[in-house]
Amino acid sequence: MTDDSPPVLSAPASLFTNAPASVSLYEVGPRDGLQNEVTVLPVAQKIEMIEGLVDAGIRRIEMTSFVNPRWIPALADHMAVATGVRRRDGVSYSALVPNMRGLDSASRAGVEEVAVFMAASQTHNRKNINKSTEEALATYGEVTREALARGMRIRGYVSCVYGCPYEGSVPIAQVLAVGGALLEMGVYELSLGDTIGVGTPLQVEHVMRSLLSSGIGLEQLAVHFHDTRGTALANITVALQYGVRTIDSAIGGLGGCPYAPGASGNVATEDVVYMLHGMGVETGVDLDQLVRISARLTGLLARELPSKYLKAHLGHCARLGRVP
Ligand code: HMG
Ligand code: MG
Repeated sequence: MTDDSPPVLSAPASLFTNAPASVSLYEVGPRDGLQNEVTVLPVAQKIEMIEGLVDAGIRRIEMTSFVNPRWIPALADHMAVATGVRRRDGVSYSALVPNMRGLDSASRAGVEEVAVFMAASQTHNRKNINKSTEEALATYGEVTREALARGMRIRGYVSCVYGCPYEGSVPIAQVLAVGGALLEMGVYELSLGDTIGVGTPLQVEHVMRSLLSSGIGLEQLAVHFHDTRGTALANITVALQYGVRTIDSAIGGLGGCPYAPGASGNVATEDVVYMLHGMGVETGVDLDQLVRISARLTGLLARELPSKYLKAHLGHCARLGRVP
């Protein structure tokens, strides 16, 4: 190869025949990506990151989290970030909310889409949101009623779908129970979280088959993989084969949950985009612009980011004596 773009094949595919022609990327870098960083970026740099990602073609982006700042200090500036981002038509800007207080703050910040989040396991709910599964569902019943009454769109995360850092394997029945309850409340999409990155392709197949055969629609599902054990892209290819059209990812492969010991970064947006473009699946995102943002974040956060594409790109630029 002479440049850094994916090889394009002309032969018709016999595998991935159910893969969609295009996918919607849901960028979680500013929220999931930054919530666990030691270096806290100033508000202006967070806003630059969000606006830069939108300039690169991202159309759905989670800006921050209206949670207790004592629990997530890195996002204590949620109000300044959410009010500071210049909105662009056709882009959905969302934020995580754990309760009514978070919903009120998100409303005041002009956020039109909120995401509620809970795990399929009891212990992770206790550790992460200080509630049992039943208490979390009761709280979100109230939050979603109010958010819908205010005309907001609501996304729902189910975490620990592939395993819990405290309980180990999680029965699929618990995923179905929590996911089904959130859908009944009116969330338009369920994001299935591999919070600690333990899932394998066979497990993804099991999860997709179980959810789809329970009556949940394909358009209601998104996948959210952390790449802790290097299985995220392989897992995404299985979800694609099932026709999933929404993929969560974080620029640079940033991310991790402080209440999920051992969790590491989300799958990197640029790695996902490289793979999808190489498979002929459109994303609407400009890979060069993306990688410029992750190269800049490497400097701002003063650490090497996990993205494989970024490393390859930096090496490629160094060989050619080009500025990344
Ligand atoms: P709590 O301590 O039980 O809350 O926390 P409380 O209702 O007892 O209130 C205690 C204090 O928190 C009070 O303040 C409240 O006002 C304040 P005080 O009177 O002591 O000064 N408080 C708030 N402040 C700001 N914003 C709020 C808010 N709510 C209460 N919204 C709570 C319960 C849920 C708030 C807390 O546990 C919390 O903030 N947890 C969030 C933790 C978190 O964000 N974890 C990372 C999320 S990532 C994830 O879950 C996985 C995901 O990425 C998908 C995947 O990877 O699978 C989504
Ligand atoms: Mg996550």
